[in-house]
Amino acid sequence: MAKLIIEGGRALKGQITVRGAKNAALPILAGTMLIPEPVRITNCPRLTDVENMVGLLKTLGCRTKWDGDALLIDASSARTAELPEGLAGSIRSSVFLLGPLLGRFGAAEAPYPGGCDIGNRPVDLHLKGLRAMGVRVDETSGRIRCLGRPKGTEIALEYPSVGATENLLMAACGAEGDTILVNPAREPEIDDLMAFLNGAGFELKREGSSRIRIRGGRRGRATAHSLLPDRIEAGTYLVAAAITGGHLVLRGGRKEHLSALLTALKEAGCRIRAEGTDLDIEGPERPRELRRLVTLPYPGFPTDMQSQVFALCTVARGTSVLEENVFEDRFRHGAELRRMGADCDLRGRAAVIRGVRSLHGAQVTARDLRGGAALALAGLRAEGITVVEEAERIDRGYMDFAATLRSVGAAIRREDE
Ligand code: EPZ
Repeated sequence: MAKLIIEGGRALKGQITVRGAKNAALPILAGTMLIPEPVRITNCPRLTDVENMVGLLKTLGCRTKWDGDALLIDASSARTAELPEGLAGSIRSSVFLLGPLLGRFGAAEAPYPGGCDIGNRPVDLHLKGLRAMGVRVDETSGRIRCLGRPKGTEIALEYPSVGATENLLMAACGAEGDTILVNPAREPEIDDLMAFLNGAGFELKREGSSRIRIRGGRRGRATAHSLLPDRIEAGTYLVAAAITGGHLVLRGGRKEHLSALLTALKEAGCRIRAEGTDLDIEGPERPRELRRLVTLPYPGFPTDMQSQVFALCTVARGTSVLEENVFEDRFRHGAELRRMGADCDLRGRAAVIRGVRSLHGAQVTARDLRGGAALALAGLRAEGITVVEEAERIDRGYMDFAATLRSVGAAIRREDE
């Protein structure tokens, strides 16, 4: 178990370099199963979710090797298409492997991916799409068993699910015939996955904002790919500057992937300048409230930034209303923030947050990855000492989180028990 001990009240100052995106790394690592030749992924963050996915690839017979921030994967000797209970059930992204395994072997088997702390995380849209491609999907006995080479077809997604889009476009790469995905997700990580697959000899392209065409019958070949920067890591550190009234320069981000967040932070009173791939942010002495913020699929406000902005709103001048439309249980950080003096009501999909002049340090618990990061951000502002328990959850999505914050002036240390 790990915990973070934070002494609040310091305005952060300095520079942070944005690392590669976790939510691009995971589907791309799954996609290496489509390619029977060596692949090199650079700018790859060493996160627990990434290490777990590497573990899954090894159980499928892949050879993997870290070389600095580059990850070398060789799936040429991969044979089995069956994922083991233990590891696969524990990380959601194991479900991403169904598509590439079907595309490569015409068979795939996996346990139901672990639901997690932000909702029950069904995979019905993934399986409905695979069935539409002629794959036989059997869901008895708590495992997902798929059989049959996917056949190209047109699939309309009822909801622009990120994971379902990624799974289906990877299955389509190995299908007989072309596939059209209608109403696919538009997150930038999908485009990074498509760029990776195109670099490996597959042929995928967006046709306007509501269709992706995937040519079937291609064979993947050796390639190298550098991951796009992590917009959620970048956004989290932007909020760290906002909540502490600090001044940070984020290097290597992509402002065009952050426009909804930047709009919200300007509404909260931050001064933000973008120069090339640098984002320069100065936080206000006390943030203004966000009258109404609604999380939506990209390019709407990202659900993965909701808890961090929730923390910012707890010390705002007025009352903020946040609506979480993507996941059904993503306000668990609210109760923890109340222990620090926040004044908030949680009403189903909406949170009403009445800003207080200051929070006080407390012992709190990270309930999920982004909620844990939000508690740490609140601790940076709070008077006194905050201890964030179960901080290993934060390691799933942030490399060296405490060290990165310390490098820009935070009084934060980590204790591993
Ligand atoms: C991806 O999850 C991300 N994870 C999540 O990031 C992110 O919050 C989410 O997309 C939305 O942007 C990875 O990329 C590894 P969805 P995913 O399928 O694919 C429902 C983080 O903190 N749904 O777009 O699971 C689902 O229940 C993580 O980095 C179905 O009903 O997201 C949810 O309510 C958290 N049936 C909504 O759609 C399905 O078959 C969005 O899910 C699939 C999804």
